[in-house]
Order: sequence, then C-alpha cells, then structure tokens
Amino acid sequence: MNPFVYGEAVAGEFFTNREAEIRDLSSELKSGQNIIIFSPRRYGKTSLIKKVLNNLKKEGCLTLYIDLFFVNSKQKFVEIYAEAIAKTFKGPFVKIIEGLRSLLPKLLPKIVVRTGGETSFEFEFDRSKKIAPLLEDLYESVNKLARKHKKKAIVVFDEFQELLSFDDGEIESGMRSKFQFHRDVAYVFLGSKRNLMRKLFDDKSRSFYNSGRKYPLPKIETAVFSRFIKERMHQTGVDVKQAEINQILEISRCHPYYTQELCHFVWEKSRDKKKVSKELIDEAVQEIILSEAANYNSIWENLTAKQKGYLMGLSEYSKISAYSREFLEKNQLGTQSTVQKLTKILYDKQLIEKEGGKVFFEDIFFEKWIQKHVLAK
Ligand SMILES: Nc1ncnc2c1ncn2[C@@H]1O[C@H](COP(=O)(O)OP(=O)(O)OP(=O)(O)O)[C@@H](O)[C@H]1O
Ligand SMILES: [Mg+2]
Repeated sequence: MNPFVYGEAVAGEFFTNREAEIRDLSSELKSGQNIIIFSPRRYGKTSLIKKVLNNLKKEGCLTLYIDLFFVNSKQKFVEIYAEAIAKTFKGPFVKIIEGLRSLLPKLLPKIVVRTGGETSFEFEFDRSKKIAPLLEDLYESVNKLARKHKKKAIVVFDEFQELLSFDDGEIESGMRSKFQFHRDVAYVFLGSKRNLMRKLFDDKSRSFYNSGRKYPLPKIETAVFSRFIKERMHQTGVDVKQAEINQILEISRCHPYYTQELCHFVWEKSRDKKKVSKELIDEAVQEIILSEAANYNSIWENLTAKQKGYLMGLSEYSKISAYSREFLEKNQLGTQSTVQKLTKILYDKQLIEKEGGKVFFEDIFFEKWIQKHVLAK
C-alpha cells in the first residue's frame, strides 16, 4: 500500500509531527479558549484538529467535530449538530434516548442501523414550527453536558465559512451570543475558504469579530518532513537518498499536501526498482501535471487576460517579488496599484499565497503547467 496519502485528512502513521501545535492547541482548548485556525488551503488544519480532538477525548474531554461542508440549510445544520451531540452519549439505547430527549426536547431522536450493524442517531422535527427555539437548545446542549459531567468540552466547526451560504445571520449571531458564556466549552472554527473565513472573523460589524484566538498554521518543517519521507520509503522497502528527498522538498516547497502528493507518485514509480532516482521524480512531476490538466485548463479559461498575464509573469520570474519594479517592467501589467489589485483577486481565489513579502503559486504543479503549456508555446 502506498505510504503517502493526500486529498483527505490524514491520521496515524500517515500523519507527521505537529507536536508544538498539538501541545499548544490542547492546552488552550482545555482552558476554554476559543480558536480560529487560519492557513492557506491544504496545510493540514483538519488533520491537526482531528488529532488534537482524539488526544483530548482520551484525556476525558467531551469532543464534537461538526463538518459544515455538505450543509446547505438551517434544517440540515440542526440535524448534524444534534447528531454530533448524540455521538457523545454512551450506554444502553433507552438511556441515550432519555438523555437526548431531556437535552433536546423539540427533536425526535431515531436510531438508525446501518449495513454492517453500526448504529447512529438521526433526528426528526416539526418543520412547520419556528427553528429558533431548536437552535437555542442546541447551542446550550454541550455546555449543559460539560457541566453535568464536570468535563471540559471542545466543539469543532470545520468548513465553517459554509454558514454564509445558508444563514441570514440568525445562526451566526445566535451562536456568538450563547457561546461567549460557556466557560467549560472551547469552540474551534476552521475552513478552507480563507476570504470567507476572514469575512466572518475580521469584519468589525459581524458577530464573530474578536471571538477567539487566531491561530495561523504554518507548513510542516523541512527537517521533519525529510525524516518522514525517509522513514515511509524505507518502511516499504524503497531506498531514497538525502539528495532525492531534498529534490522532492524543493519542488513541493514543503507544502503538506503537495509533498504527500509528489511522494505518492514517486513511490508508485519507484516501487518496482525499489529505489528513488532524480529521473523518476521528474517523471512523477510530469504525471501529476498531466493528471491535473483538465482542472488547470478550466481554471485558466476562467481568468481574465490580466490575471493570466500576472500568473505567467509569476511562473516565469518566481524568484522576483510581484511588487518589484522588475516584475512590473517585465510583465507590463500596468501600475503598481493594478498589480496590487490583481494580487488581491488571485489571493482571494486562493491561486497565490504570500510569504515573507513574496508571492507564490498555491499549487506548485499549476505553476509548472503554465511553464510547460502556456509559456513554452
Ligand atoms: N501532519 C501531517 N502529516 C503529513 N501529511 C499531512 C499532515 N497534515 C496534512 N498533510 C497532508 O496535507 C493534506 C491536506 O490535509 P488536510 O485536509 O488536513 O488540510 P486542510 O488544511 O484541512 O485542507 P483544506 O484547506 O482543504 O480544508 C493531507 O491529505 C496530507 O496529504
Ligand atoms: Mg480541511
């Protein structure tokens, strides 16, 4: 089995390090601190918070993970919130039902037996009635449970920005007004769409402004990733030298997702020969670009001529700061303020990232695709 995984939250042997972050987040959450995790796309927010939740659960905390990715209505929000609450209950069904009824009296819990025998709860409610009292019960539930069991509780809302797609402000302000009084519960908010997350948390006129500690998540350190790659290759009988690991990390810029993706392809190519080589790494890069071509084409088609020009310039002169005179002169994109506007648009689209005053491609393979398929023509 390929020892490198990308595209989903990773755990166990596929997850590396983040020790400082795990320590830091765990102690903050145990003290009831609300946290908002920010990072560029695919840096490992979900993987990290799931790991932290697992640890805290083992330490006896109540933990809830609520993913808003597929939520498109207030009703659906009620359902998944209630289901997450139900998951914290243990013991015989009658007891669980009893507990849920007293906590959420306006909801009707149903036991669902899935194929394979696994059971879970679903909730029904009168959809003709007002949803506000139901929501209030939900907001208070975890706090009540925490106090009853004398435990600390942690509630994670992943893909939290999705709230903006179905909420008219009712949930946003309702949550905020209740959550601020919950001393035994820490709430964590994270999401993959940075501009929407910023809208929710950085706008002074919105409910969640100043509602928790902002936690920026950096990349995984080079030395740590380097060790991880070596170990994973060796454990599966593939020989890899430091020079090749360095080559991989230089290409992937140590980005958690793209590093795992590249390693995944490199491992596939090296498994027969049981040895990684420079040539195989180059082949793996080409294969990834090819596999993403349709996606890149459609991104490209939806950009304006100026945006294309900017990205072409960036992929050609990636060592130059996008704000420098050199960049402006070479790419004829107009004034510095035009470039700044373009930077903002492409940053909001999450096609580029900023670090240390410089601008980079979010997707290193997209950059290579432009070099090969646009610039070379
Ligand atoms: N600690 C880690 N160790 C190894 N690989 C990791 C780690 N964290 C993340 N990754 C890699 O990055 C990928 C993305 O991780 P994850 O889905 O947790 O990121 P995310 O920040 O939640 O992404 P999104 O912005 O899309 O929500 C994983 O599939 C994995 O390949
Ligand atoms: Mg995520």
